[in-house]
Amino acid sequence: MCGIVGIVGTNPVAMQVVDALKRLEYRGYDSAGVATLENGHLTRLRAEGKLRNLELKLSQAPLTGAIGIGHTRWATHGRPNETNAHPHATDKLAVVHNGIIENFRPLKAELTAKGVVFETETDTEVVAQLVTDELRQGKTPMEAVAATLPRLRGAFALAFLFEGEENQLIGARHGAPLAVGYGEGEMYLGSDAPALSPFTDEVSYLEDGDWAVLTRDGVEIRDAGGHPVDRPRQTIPQGQFTANKGNHRHFMAKEIYEQPEVVARTIAHYVDFAEGRMRPLDLPVSFAALTRLSITACGGSYYAALVAKYWFEKLARLPVEIDVASEFRYREAPLEAGQLALFVSQSGETADTLASLHYAKAQGQHVVSVVNVPGSTMARDSAVVTPTLAGPEISVASTKATTCQYAVLLCLAILAGRQRGTLSLDDERRLVAALATVPGTMSDALKLEDMIEPYAREIARAHDVLYMGRGTSYPVALEGALKLKELSYIHAEGYAAGEFKHGPIALIDETVPVIVIAPHDAVFEKTVSNMQEVAARGGRILLITDALGSQEAAMDTMGTIVMPDCDPVVAPIVYAVAVQLLAYHTAVFMGKDVDQPRNLAKSVTVE
Ligand code: AGP
Repeated sequence: MCGIVGIVGTNPVAMQVVDALKRLEYRGYDSAGVATLENGHLTRLRAEGKLRNLELKLSQAPLTGAIGIGHTRWATHGRPNETNAHPHATDKLAVVHNGIIENFRPLKAELTAKGVVFETETDTEVVAQLVTDELRQGKTPMEAVAATLPRLRGAFALAFLFEGEENQLIGARHGAPLAVGYGEGEMYLGSDAPALSPFTDEVSYLEDGDWAVLTRDGVEIRDAGGHPVDRPRQTIPQGQFTANKGNHRHFMAKEIYEQPEVVARTIAHYVDFAEGRMRPLDLPVSFAALTRLSITACGGSYYAALVAKYWFEKLARLPVEIDVASEFRYREAPLEAGQLALFVSQSGETADTLASLHYAKAQGQHVVSVVNVPGSTMARDSAVVTPTLAGPEISVASTKATTCQYAVLLCLAILAGRQRGTLSLDDERRLVAALATVPGTMSDALKLEDMIEPYAREIARAHDVLYMGRGTSYPVALEGALKLKELSYIHAEGYAAGEFKHGPIALIDETVPVIVIAPHDAVFEKTVSNMQEVAARGGRILLITDALGSQEAAMDTMGTIVMPDCDPVVAPIVYAVAVQLLAYHTAVFMGKDVDQPRNLAKSVTVE
């Protein structure tokens, strides 16, 4: 993963680099570093841990160069200590890297045989040493980079700073995003455009295989074959990044509370409430023409895809094949040309999902993506984007983007049902009416926070927590377990309620809380039977249900959270709020780093 930045500036750039890195910290926060040139000589400062540690060091020993590169790291190769922190440097250059150099072992062996001594455990250092080797043979920086890039395998973005080259930065992109920013007598490189937004709103995106030479006068971009190419300049909307927690203690809390508003905004994008109908969408193929739909995503977005499978199959009678992207991309799934492949991602930069998208495209699929970040690689590489309008999500654990994904996917499923003739106009109107209630019901669910918080204190004492649900509540159980793991580091698993008896029930004793997601829907009684089986074995149950469900099945074990009534079809969107609040308060009570949990990153740009 990692975020990279480069600036050819006019004043000392170190603090500008840090400013841009702050906008990239969602990509990793294991360590950070910056390198500049002072009187033509490389100087660098690195620090383990979050960016604020680097800032502290810089305040004590400022770097003064007017050209520099910077990095915030999510460790892949080598521990997250200062030695392994980027920039990596030789006497001739410094380099920052996002991604993985897959063939670093043979390259390292080759260089070691030549007498090169490596200082770090990283894959990146081979890049620094390879380019240095070329420079020692008399090549210019451009020639040295051009000779090195074809030797690297994997997905990466790189930025190089060269000893003695006060007016030249080189960036390269191969499978990991890199944007070039245009300023007044200054030029910038960044892993994404919002990182550069304090300096410029004019960017161009490098394409795969491109490398770019930046000077104060502009940029020269070349493709993989070394031919000069033009990459169109685009104006990025301002305000894509708002580092503002409002009155909340954490970004996550703020984002949880934004949900009624952003879900309403998202639904309104797809629904014409005046007509009580779905708005027509300009999709590359009609749902009526499909024999199957594939949906691919990772992590929480995959669980959204799993909810969507239930919706598409029930409402539109459309068979759905879903997969986690890291499996899909290498499974070589046979895909009938002309079908629709849907990709779900908050960031639009998840490497596995992107690779799956490219695979699907190559197999003749129409590619549509449900993405939250406009201008992301996934958005740009899709035939059509059906956006989630959650706005910037800063907290690593996704909340508002996830519920907006649910909302978009439900809208698409309703549209599919209409196009395929499995839903009547009356059905459509009924479902639109259910969608209209969602923001208000989510607001009501948020009012349960004070009631949920004491349960979180109990959960915080557990070593293992299990979640169960049936139908669309099954993915919500998976989502609940993921949120708890991410935020509190408590081991948690989600299961289909009916699967419990096939193994997981062996884990039950009085120390293991079991959180049961069970709105009073068509499968409620079945879920309750599975819950009884757990209770009969001493399990401590926290039931999340509605008034009717509580009346019929509340148990005197751990407790019951009574959710506001809602149409079962929209229950996943509403019940997500409860599992979010439970995980959030558990982590707060345990004193965890809620917005930036250990070992994680917001955008996972390595496979
Ligand atoms: C969700 O809370 C997680 N942080 C994570 O599982 C995330 O959903 C996953 O990495 C996929 O990211 P994306 O939506 O940006 O593709």
